[in-house]
Amino acid sequence: MNVLVIGNGGREHAIVHALAKSPLVDKMYCMKGNAGIAELAECVDVDYCDVKAVGDWVDAHPDVEYTVIAPDDPLALGLADELEGRGHRVFGPNKAAAQIEASKSFAKQLMKKYGIPTAAYEVFDDYDKALAYVRGGKFPVVLKADGLALGKGVLICETLAEAEQGLRQIMLDKAFGAAGNKVVVEEFLQGKEFTPGEEVSVLTFTDGKTIVPMLASCDHKRALDGDKGLNTGGMGTFTPCPFYSQEIADEVMQNILLPTVHAMNAEGRPFKGVLYCGLMRTPEGMKVVEYNARFGDPETQVVLPMLKTDLMEIFQAITDERLADINIEWEQGACVCVVLASGGYPQKYEKGKPIEIGALDEDVILYHAGTARKDGALVTSGGRVLGVCAKGATVAEARKKAYANIQKIKFEGMQYRSDIGIKYNAGV
Ligand code: AMP
Ligand code: GLY
Repeated sequence: MNVLVIGNGGREHAIVHALAKSPLVDKMYCMKGNAGIAELAECVDVDYCDVKAVGDWVDAHPDVEYTVIAPDDPLALGLADELEGRGHRVFGPNKAAAQIEASKSFAKQLMKKYGIPTAAYEVFDDYDKALAYVRGGKFPVVLKADGLALGKGVLICETLAEAEQGLRQIMLDKAFGAAGNKVVVEEFLQGKEFTPGEEVSVLTFTDGKTIVPMLASCDHKRALDGDKGLNTGGMGTFTPCPFYSQEIADEVMQNILLPTVHAMNAEGRPFKGVLYCGLMRTPEGMKVVEYNARFGDPETQVVLPMLKTDLMEIFQAITDERLADINIEWEQGACVCVVLASGGYPQKYEKGKPIEIGALDEDVILYHAGTARKDGALVTSGGRVLGVCAKGATVAEARKKAYANIQKIKFEGMQYRSDIGIKYNAGV
């Protein structure tokens, strides 16, 4: 089968890398891909947010039998609906189901209606009302732009002055564009043993009937060591998550995963694809911080290398709503991914810096994110440039290997966190 993968980051490289191992997959295309993906797939230069253009391209390539949509924007724009409407087979939720990520107010209302544990909240589309509410409330308070904002539309405000400034930024200055037409004002969740709470990313496969969690992983959203600095798309990940016991996994299945699948069906928005639950551990149990309608980046880069089952087989089972019939197996051990970013990221950074890569250990996987070829040479082309991914018997072992291999990679301005795989006592 020939397969098209939509997207161009490290997550997509991990998906293409996993699909390349499948005997079911012959040729792959990737729209738009990057320099690493280009070694496994033919890269296609079409804007994947232009759903009609993607539909036309797929129509014009009858050899493409299956399309995997990885990023949030094309899902929110209805690319799955467009392709299915033209008779193509697709992995990824339709537009109605993708609302669970594309609108935070939709997700919050869904959780309230169906009793899924999450932080208390109010939604406002009026700045003055939001301001009056915040003035009468407790601190810290969390402000979230309603729409998609590259993971950056969340502000944790310690004081009233910060909250006032935040509301102005989101609702009046439109720092996150139309995503800020509505704002969710949320209770700040306290952690159980640490403050703020321990967080875990639980990505799941679901066909709308069955839901199967992948290995739980931990992301590092802040740019600098010790969770300091600005929020980013994610600076590194590890799996397994040390506090995610079987008991917690069972609680999450009963109180969050199954009720979410049920809720989406009851709302007439059956969810088929990867449902990502960002969860926090609180004194009242596990609560949902956010839903995403897709694989996480860089969670995927540590989860898929541990998958023993054929990913293409899982994708097809989801499309055909027979996920219950397959057995999904994982490797034992741990996996760590450290992101190498351009100097300045997540703010302004330069592109086009030549990348030097020495001889990496054979079992280290180098996922490309923002890379391109310029006159044949490998250069940077984005904020997150590479993900260095290593496995080991423990997080500590995998972490050591990942950092040893980073020493063999260089580009001007290269920055990375040196503490991936330490938090929650994982790597010590
Ligand atoms: P989100 O994009 O919704 O995942 O939010 C980004 C980050 O902000 C999360 O990973 C949390 O660390 C933090 N956060 C979001 N909502 C809350 C909350 N209600 N209480 C405490 N921290 C939060
Ligand atoms: N790593 C966070 C996300 O993919 O949203």
